[in-house]
Amino acid sequence: MVKVTLKARGQQFEYSCTPDVTPLRAARDQFIPIPTGCIRGGCGMCKVKVLDGEYEQDMIRSHDALSDEELAKGFALACCMKAKGDLDIITLEDYEKVQQEDISGRN
Ligand code: FES
Repeated sequence: MVKVTLKARGQQFEYSCTPDVTPLRAARDQFIPIPTGCIRGGCGMCKVKVLDGEYEQDMIRSHDALSDEELAKGFALACCMKAKGDLDIITLEDYEKVQQEDISGRN
């Protein structure tokens, strides 16, 4: 059992996830609001930035949903990944907001 910390919709959620279940599935089972679409690596709606932790990304996915470049930068699809230990993730939407706030805070 691993602990997943998810930042979504400006809030932080902590929940447990078994190694055989994706972070998306575990979040949905616990009524935690995580963006969800196709649940099979095709749409990219569940894209997250991994802030900390080890994980395995299923390679069977659409490159439109997650490009090799994004994969290399630590983005992942929450519907097609498995946590290998405690995981700290943030939804793409929240990540972009934080980035935007950082940029405007510097000006
Ligand atoms: S829900 Fe569509 S790629 Fe994850």
